[in-house]
Amino acid sequence: MAAEGRPLKKVRDSDEKVAAARGHPEIFEAFRKANARKFRGFLAPEYNIRCIEAAVNEPFEEGLKTERRLFTEVLTGPQSAAQRYAFFAERQANKIPDVPDDTPLIPINSVGILGAGTMGGGIAMNFANAGIPVTIVEVKQEALDRGLGVVRGNYERTASRGGITAIDVETRMGLITGSLDLEAFKDVDLVIEAVFERMDIKKDVFTRLDAICKPGAILATNTSALNIDEIASVTRRPEAVIGLHFFSPANVMKLLEIVRADHTSKSVIATCMRLARKIGKIAVLVGVTPGFVGNRILGQRQREAQKLMFEGAMPWDIDRVLYDFGFPMGPFAMSDLAGLDIGWVKENSKGETIRDVLCELDRRGQKTGAGYYDYDENRVARPSPVTEQVIKDFVAKSGTNPRPISDEEILERCVYPMINEGAKILEEGKAIRASDIDVVWENGYGWPVYRGGPMFYGDQIGLPKVLEKMKEFHGQMGDAFKPSTLLEKLVAEGKRFQDL
Ligand SMILES: NC(=O)c1ccc[n+]([C@@H]2O[C@H](COP(=O)([O-])OP(=O)(O)OC[C@H]3O[C@@H](n4cnc5c(N)ncnc54)[C@H](O)[C@@H]3O)[C@@H](O)[C@H]2O)c1
Repeated sequence: MAAEGRPLKKVRDSDEKVAAARGHPEIFEAFRKANARKFRGFLAPEYNIRCIEAAVNEPFEEGLKTERRLFTEVLTGPQSAAQRYAFFAERQANKIPDVPDDTPLIPINSVGILGAGTMGGGIAMNFANAGIPVTIVEVKQEALDRGLGVVRGNYERTASRGGITAIDVETRMGLITGSLDLEAFKDVDLVIEAVFERMDIKKDVFTRLDAICKPGAILATNTSALNIDEIASVTRRPEAVIGLHFFSPANVMKLLEIVRADHTSKSVIATCMRLARKIGKIAVLVGVTPGFVGNRILGQRQREAQKLMFEGAMPWDIDRVLYDFGFPMGPFAMSDLAGLDIGWVKENSKGETIRDVLCELDRRGQKTGAGYYDYDENRVARPSPVTEQVIKDFVAKSGTNPRPISDEEILERCVYPMINEGAKILEEGKAIRASDIDVVWENGYGWPVYRGGPMFYGDQIGLPKVLEKMKEFHGQMGDAFKPSTLLEKLVAEGKRFQDL
């Protein structure tokens, strides 16, 4: 073209690809709307849209400037830092300081699952999906049939949406065998127990598993909160006992807390960490402590959410603040979804808590069309005047004066104690590193990735600020807010969790 002296065509002078969109902002609005859920809270997708709007509407040079300005802003902003951190945190979690890479692994070619309830079925699907045969043992045929039916239903739903083929459904179901006889576990390499959450039952089951399973088989429990050392103590192989804490729904949720008990061997830990990757989970090694890492920290948020309700905030105020922060839903919406009657027994209910009263009114959550919220036929939530009255009556009875509570206080009361609890967990050595706690919260509890996790968020807003507020709350409301020694120490040394 140069030899022929033909004019060079510059792409910048051509607008054929964008001209049609000029003067049609509705194209962009429709795209924003269609993706609102996916993009919620994230700056980068919105800025991308703005860059394309600039390409359409502005002259070339101006468009470039807009692009550079927006790009620099997100690149140097907190969301980018948080997401880069999250990326590396997830990889870091695989490294266990005292479990070297060359730790011998135990081959896992078959898995036994005890209990085909909510968790057992979902856990079984993970292994069948990875081509590992699973045997599920139940106490009653009826429970077994129900459990296997749910698994099949899940697969068939995925197939109907095109996620897997009809042949996949049969292949995977073919890898799952049901039985009522614990002896079916005698040759499996790993058993995961997912029976009722009661220590006496767990102990009974582990005594029997220990007698039946072959030497070298790993015995895992999916307990949410029970002491795994105590469970291990009834076996003659505490080195083979470990916690594999799946999250519900177990076939969907990415997080797996792997719980190391006092005697768990390094081979068992290394094997479970590797196996987690094989079944597509993000594993974090934690120690034995009530609720482990995730639920222990959640307990802080739950307690404050409940207390705030007695001080004058309505459930929808608290939920809104946490939703706007970036959580998929607030604690009260979550309760409604899960069902307020989990653990509630009608015969024993004496209207002693707000939950008792709501359940007594048959407001047991989304499934009954009402819980903390009222729900319409599409399960869209509305603040409920009934709930509001129940709360007001409780508050009046307790003799406290409700006060206006700011959004800022709601957020600080719910989130700062979580950061503080994370610091206590680190202090006690129940998590290896601060970033592991963040991996737990991002992948198990919907902490927004653009805020990095509770510990990273603490670093980002500044630990001195967190400490100062904790001290203030401690003075006003007592020991639930007692700052952790580690938090005090870090602030005194001008350090962050990331510097540990
Ligand atoms: N549901 C959750 O969100 C969740 C999350 C994480 C961990 N967990 C833990 O997982 C475990 C199971 O919880 P779930 O929600 O699946 O309970 P579930 O009640 O839905 O299921 C338990 C199943 O175990 C069976 N079972 C009871 N005793 C048995 C025995 N001796 N042998 C064989 N089967 C037996 C029951 O018939 C029932 O089907 C509990 O330890 C729980 O704390 C639950």
